Parts: sequence; C-alpha cells; structure tokens
Amino acid sequence: MSTTSPAGARPGPDAVEPACTALVVFGITGDLARKKTFAALHELQHFGWAGVPVIGVGRSAWTDDDIRAAAADAVGGDADTAFLERFSYVRGDYTDAALYRRLERALAEHPAVLCYLAVPPTVFEDVVVGLAATDLRDRVRLMIEKPFGTDLRSAERLQARLTAHFDERCVYAVDHYLQKEAVQNISVVRFANRILEAVWSAAHIDSIIVTMAESFGVEGRAGFFDHAGTLRDVVQSHVLQIVVGLAMEPPTPGSTDDVNERRCELLAAIAPLQPADVVFGQYDGYTSQEGVDADSTTDTYVRARLTIDNPRWRGTAWTLVAGKALAETCTSVEITFRAASGHTGADDDPAPAPNRFVLVLSPEESITLSLRARSSSVALGSTGADMVSDASYRAGDALSPYARVFDDVRRGDHTPFTRFDVVEAAWRVVQPLLERRAPPRPYRRGTWGPT
Ligand code: BG6
Repeated sequence: MSTTSPAGARPGPDAVEPACTALVVFGITGDLARKKTFAALHELQHFGWAGVPVIGVGRSAWTDDDIRAAAADAVGGDADTAFLERFSYVRGDYTDAALYRRLERALAEHPAVLCYLAVPPTVFEDVVVGLAATDLRDRVRLMIEKPFGTDLRSAERLQARLTAHFDERCVYAVDHYLQKEAVQNISVVRFANRILEAVWSAAHIDSIIVTMAESFGVEGRAGFFDHAGTLRDVVQSHVLQIVVGLAMEPPTPGSTDDVNERRCELLAAIAPLQPADVVFGQYDGYTSQEGVDADSTTDTYVRARLTIDNPRWRGTAWTLVAGKALAETCTSVEITFRAASGHTGADDDPAPAPNRFVLVLSPEESITLSLRARSSSVALGSTGADMVSDASYRAGDALSPYARVFDDVRRGDHTPFTRFDVVEAAWRVVQPLLERRAPPRPYRRGTWGPT
C-alpha cells in the first residue's frame, strides 16, 4: 500500500512508512548545500516535493533572506518564488537544547520529518542527542552524511549513539555514490551479461584498477578536508563501494538485507590495507590554501594495492587510485583479462595483448571492450578492435544522486542505503593506515599524482 502519491511523484517501490512532510537541513550554510542540496531540492519540485517546507539550520548569522539568496544562487536563474519561499533559517548552537525546542515547535504539525545531518563529524553526535531529547524523536527520519566517524572506533561509537536514541530503521546512511546511475549499473552489467558472468573471476581477470580522479583541489572546503584527507573522504566510502559492486557475490534478487550481507562478506575478505601497499600524495601548494594547516600532512592522493582473499578473486591484482588536483576528473574501472591461451598463427604475434573491459562511470558514462582481431595481411598477427558504447548509452534525464537520496528517504525506501555493519567493515579495510602511514609525497597539480 502506498501511503503517499503526490502529483508528479517518482514511480518506485511503495513506501512502507508515511512520507515526510518537512525537511530540516543541519549545516545548510556549508559547501555541500551550495554544491548539491539546493539543486537536488529544486529538481524534486516536479516529483511531489513542491509543498515541503525546508528549515535550514546553521551556526552562521544567516536570515531567511540569506538562505533564499543562497538557494537562488545555487540553482541559477531557474529559481521561482514558490521554490524560494519554502526555505527558512534557524540559527543555533548544536549543543544548545533551545535550538531543538525551537525546531520541535516549528514542526509540531508534521507527522514525519526528514532531518538531514550535513554537519562535520565533530558535531554530529550533538545533533543526534539534541534531536533525541525532543518529541521529534518518534517521527524523525535521520539522513546522515559520510564520513561516518573518522575511524573504526568512532564509527562504532556513532552507531551505538544513534541506536541508543533512534531505531535503526529511522537512520539512512548516505553514500551518494551508491545512488549514481553509473554505480548501480555495475550490477546490471555484471549480472545481466552471460559473457561477463562466465569470466568474472581471478581465473580470467588479471587486474582491476578503480580510479576516482578529480582535477580540482580542496578550494572552499579545506576546513573539512584537512581533517579527513582522501583516504577517509572517498576511499573508505565511494571507492570501496565501487569495489564492492564489482566484486561481491550475487545477492538474492529484491532483498536489501541480502545485498548488505554480500557487501559485508566481500569487505571482510579484503585484506586490511598495510602501509607498504599504499602511496599517499599531497599536491604542491595544498598547505598554502586557506583553511589548511601550514604543516599539514593530509593526503590529497592515495594509490593502494588491494587483495581480496576469497575463491572468486584470489589472484587478481586490484589497484585503487583517488586524488584531487589530478590531470582530469574521471571515475573509471579498468579490467585487464589474462592473456588468451591460443596462438594467432603469426610468428611475430606469439602473445596477443590481453582483452580489456573499461567502464567509465563519470563524467560521461561509457563501456569499452577491447578485443583482438586479425590484422592486415602485411603485418600478420592480431590488432586491437575496440567495441565502444555509442553516444546514446545511458543518456537520459535521470534524477541526480542527491535528489534520489532525498526522495528515497522521504518515502522510507531503504534499498540504496548501506547498513552500519557495511560502513564498519569498510573502516576495517583502511584502519591500519589510520594508525601508521608514511608522509605524503608531493606532486604537481594537473598530473597523475606522485611518481
Ligand atoms: C564527496 C567527497 O563525498 O564526493 C568529495 O567528499 C568529492 O571530496 C565528491 O569531490 C565527489 O562526488 P561527485 O558526485 O561530485 O563526483
């Protein structure tokens, strides 16, 4: 039974809980709101969100006019008055009980309220405790933003704190990468293609490189990033989730719990990363950026060798690369198969180049399968024959990841979210590096990282 079907709502699984009728965004003055939140809410105007009021909460001295100006700025010329008037602002200190009482009063009429915690890990627990002390506690749906803690222990503490106050079913841990069409597409590519299914193992795959490269630096968000670094910011979350999508065993169709079991199982099979397997880097000029400590050793680049110790993957070499201020912005998966065992018949081509399968996940999605074929009669042997998805591949008007996140939480759909045991299993993979690691090596902006 669907409890909500507002005009224009997205098709999808029926909500099992009442849809939220109001949204509170803690940390609305931050970079994430400017980059993603306002735009996502604007997109959702046409998907049943037109009447949902949005209360932004922050520590800065903003007014309702300021939040509306920030929303208008973020969505460019597309913002109409009805959209902007949905926003109001509440200023407060996250440790102050008066802030939560104010919210409680403002939201008294709403049977279900979505609270989005886009705040730094350091104040996260304050908001959880503050909300739990109000009567919102029984009608709130908490959407929490990565990083979930700063290491395994703090993640466990966070979970304990959350579940001490809120039912686990009310908590939605967001890794927006899991909401990306391109990332969800990994399972379809794997499981809907017999020709891949048959060779998806170490017996056939020699190596896999997962790259999340960004050409921009930390401008504007050093306050967060300098305490996190690339390992915590994206490797523990987005990059490992891509690995999980590529490597986990097929889950039982339609079972969210089974997907999470398979995710945990796979992460548990990854050998925790050791300092000798990892190169850290920091781009030149990082420490002179505003908000960065002058002697910061924060990593803006990580390259790690990873092994998966299970029957399917024992023997495949995995490499993870992630960094900022690199040569381009591109997230991709490059799979190299083992060399073919046959001979082409030409003496000068005893070992044809191996097949490669490349999935580009962003910015433009594509799939390339590199086969070998007979070369011209002049130069006997084999030559590359690439099969590349055409321009219409995955073109469409799908909602952006953040719009999907908000809408799924509002409707109470847990499918695309990770459970906390998955988050903790991912922390276990990177934990040794948080305790002991070499200082980062310098690299020039616009390159592919340290040599
Ligand atoms: C965020 C990280 O989670 O993901 C950022 O904190 C990163 O550092 C961003 O830039 C990348 O996401 P997207 O969707 O913009 O590729």
